[in-house]
Amino acid sequence: MNIVGINAVFHESAAALIVDGKVVVACEEERFNRIKHAKEARVGTPHVLPVQAAHFCLDYAGLKASDIDRVAYSFDPALRSAEFRAEWWPDSKLEAEFLQRLGKVSDATAALLGRKLGRALKFVPHHLAHAASAYYPSGFDPAAILVVDGIGEAACSTLLRGEGARIATVETFSYPHSLGFVWEQASVHLGFSPYDAAKVMGLAAYGDPEALRREFAAVIQVRKDGYAVDPKAFDPRGLEALFGPSRRPEAVILPHHMNIAAALQAATDAAVIALLHRLERQVGGQNLCVAGGVALNCVTNTLMRQASTFSQIFIPSAPHDAGTAIGAALAAHCAERGAIRPPPSGATPYLGPEFDEREVLAAVKAAGLTPRRCKDAAPEAADMIADGNIVGWFQGRMEFGPRALGNRSLLADPRRPDTRAILNRRIKHREDFRPFAPSVLAEHADEWFEIGPPTASNEYMLFAYMAKADRCERIPAVIHQDGTARVQLVRREANPRYHDLISRFYARTGVPLVLNTSFNDSEPIVCTPSHAIATFRGTGIDALFMGDICLTSQA
Ligand SMILES: [Fe+2]
Repeated sequence: MNIVGINAVFHESAAALIVDGKVVVACEEERFNRIKHAKEARVGTPHVLPVQAAHFCLDYAGLKASDIDRVAYSFDPALRSAEFRAEWWPDSKLEAEFLQRLGKVSDATAALLGRKLGRALKFVPHHLAHAASAYYPSGFDPAAILVVDGIGEAACSTLLRGEGARIATVETFSYPHSLGFVWEQASVHLGFSPYDAAKVMGLAAYGDPEALRREFAAVIQVRKDGYAVDPKAFDPRGLEALFGPSRRPEAVILPHHMNIAAALQAATDAAVIALLHRLERQVGGQNLCVAGGVALNCVTNTLMRQASTFSQIFIPSAPHDAGTAIGAALAAHCAERGAIRPPPSGATPYLGPEFDEREVLAAVKAAGLTPRRCKDAAPEAADMIADGNIVGWFQGRMEFGPRALGNRSLLADPRRPDTRAILNRRIKHREDFRPFAPSVLAEHADEWFEIGPPTASNEYMLFAYMAKADRCERIPAVIHQDGTARVQLVRREANPRYHDLISRFYARTGVPLVLNTSFNDSEPIVCTPSHAIATFRGTGIDALFMGDICLTSQA
């Protein structure tokens, strides 16, 4: 059975294809249409489907539209209608418009595949899709599942239980109790975009979480067994009443702003830990799966590992809305009568497009550049990094999820104190307070960072681990203000070529890690060789390796 999964309801539009329960391919629409997050999160666009991503999925698998048995959409309009409360939005027309556009999803899907789907179109509840994206690939059985995001149909946080092929909802925390929305509003209050939770998370390390703890308790009220959110926080005036005027985007970041971020991080940590304890009591067991946009918060994730009785944790590489494309498809597969749980698949971020040498050379030629073929790109790139160069590393299948994990990455020397400034100034054009992350050889990670018990999710850059005190000085470019690093473990089996590169860097320098940041400059991460070449030419990247084809800035 061939099932296309689609996320398009709010943002992070994405498509995935599962064949007989196996995740074959998944990718985000933003990588094709070059619009960050694919589209604006407006009520008027749930029917705007990730058309390019979906077509790519079919092409990748060699399938035609007529081969598709089901399309699974990660939002359920009927559930929304049943659970929506008029008092949620001040403007009642908004909800009417949202439902009306959701009604067009069926036609949009028919246009996508060139035929009417009828009952083959499945609407999967949003948090069920999130939960499925973590539970089925995890391989855990049974598992307690925690979903925390902005909002699904009504639920903002959901506790679930997975067993065999079945996922059951245990409890939901509905609107307005949305931690995701608090982060969006706080990001705007701090002068960033609603999508800039990662910036706020980075800023939090500079602030004092105690300074505004009392004030923030009015926004997120944490109790022993849960939390509540005051919806006044969703109105800009609500936050201004508590914390003073919003910061203008161009204004200086003051200690006060850092303290707001720190208080938000602390309150979020406490709320999620309270949810976790509730999940321990209601479901229990050894295995925990986590998804939802809030699961991109590596500080909270790390605390979850330390503060819970669950001994195993799995968070997918795309815990945010894009991942619901995979989750919806897997949930639809398992909902079929008599379906047994498919063997775990999709627990790899490398699910996107790849390009062979012919395609790379064609792109190089079209750009009018002169390529050089190297014998082996990995050691050559490692040597260039050790010599202080910034290297574009474009290899194999593109990552699914917001982090570049060694296939669409910019790599640099973690030992140089000036690496951060050089990257920010020449290429990334981003704020100096934001940290850069390391990719470390899995077999040496414990020697450099306080890594907890093993988890596959250590390979997705989802946890912030303390660096060992005697190591910090040697790798200043990847250590954040609070002494942590958002580590990616690299196993040879998971990414042999990337592992080779870091191994060579280790052999030369005695440091088993490189700085890894996403291959982009304020745009979506590069997808094709042409995107990579354009970013290479437009910025201060010293060398670009695509497969074994190398371009250097002198050329
Ligand atoms: Fe979501």
